[in-house]
Amino acid sequence: MAKPSSVSLFFLLQVALAISTCGGSKSWHSKQQAAFFIFGDSYLDSGNNNYINTTTLDQANFWPYGETYFKFPTGRFSDGRLMSDFIAEYAHLPFVPPFLQPGFHQYYDGVNFASSGAGALVETFQGSVIDLKTQLKYYKKVEKWFRHKLGDVEAKVTLSRAVYLFSIGTNDYISPFLTNSPILKSYSKSQYIGMVIGNLTSVIQEIYAGGGRKFGFINLPTLGCLPGMRIIKPENKGSCLEEVSSLAKLHNQALSKLLIQLGNQLEGFKYSLYDLSGNLRQRTRHPSGYGRKSSMLWYRAV
Ligand SMILES: *[C@@H]1O[C@H](CO)[C@@H](O)[C@H](O)[C@H]1NC(C)=O
Ligand SMILES: *[C@@H]1O[C@H](CO)[C@@H](O)[C@H](O)[C@H]1NC(C)=O
Repeated sequence: MAKPSSVSLFFLLQVALAISTCGGSKSWHSKQQAAFFIFGDSYLDSGNNNYINTTTLDQANFWPYGETYFKFPTGRFSDGRLMSDFIAEYAHLPFVPPFLQPGFHQYYDGVNFASSGAGALVETFQGSVIDLKTQLKYYKKVEKWFRHKLGDVEAKVTLSRAVYLFSIGTNDYISPFLTNSPILKSYSKSQYIGMVIGNLTSVIQEIYAGGGRKFGFINLPTLGCLPGMRIIKPENKGSCLEEVSSLAKLHNQALSKLLIQLGNQLEGFKYSLYDLSGNLRQRTRHPSGYGRKSSMLWYRAV
């Protein structure tokens, strides 16, 4: 059995390799690098939420965010770098800037659309985040930029060599509990998960139609064990909220199934799926194997 740490490293390297090893000496770009596009939530947001004017609810633009690496709060929900930052480093790319960063309009190396708190459903933390559909809308603008710069054919070739990384779903499942939204009561579990997966599928299909071929996904951790979920029901006395954990588990099964399906349906569709859930479980069970003294995890971000 592979050690879990090597599993996550393997995912990072696999995605990084997909970015950095695409041949083609006729390339428009002097480097052999492909672009890196990032979608999703706070696992990957490099600062888009800093530029949402209407609310400061889902922003991480204050100390001590950023303290261990950047030395200032960048908007990342992390004290250091995100998974996407490590991938960029392995692929010898600069950190991928947030799409909403003013003055940033050079997309050859890629761009980050992720928004902390975002979900696949527009209802998820609506008004405080950039939902996945809007992230796709922004990506369409970037597609257009590539076509304008390179022409239709070369743009499609370029976008087919790019890597598209997704982290989405966490907020769709935790937001109804945090906002007291009745949305979960209007659907069965499988219907609700079907909507989340359905909206993600549409986004993947649209990116594929524009040329995208190489995708990376991160599955959902045991969401009921997030500190914010453990305190929802005081009578649970801090134990994990099973309702949310089971949604996450079913979502992960549906995601795996979807990717196999898309692999069969869409010619040239390639993907890598990182089992964050399994990896975190290993880390909490065997903290000493990861240089940690306690099984308390660092995950505070959503
Ligand atoms: C935020 O406000 C500025 C200035 O009013 C505006 O130019 C910008 O488009 C707004 N950004 C978003 C994401 O709405
Ligand atoms: C996407 O989500 C909306 C709710 O935001 C839902 O009504 C719709 O059916 C979903 N689409 C798919 C393809 O599942």
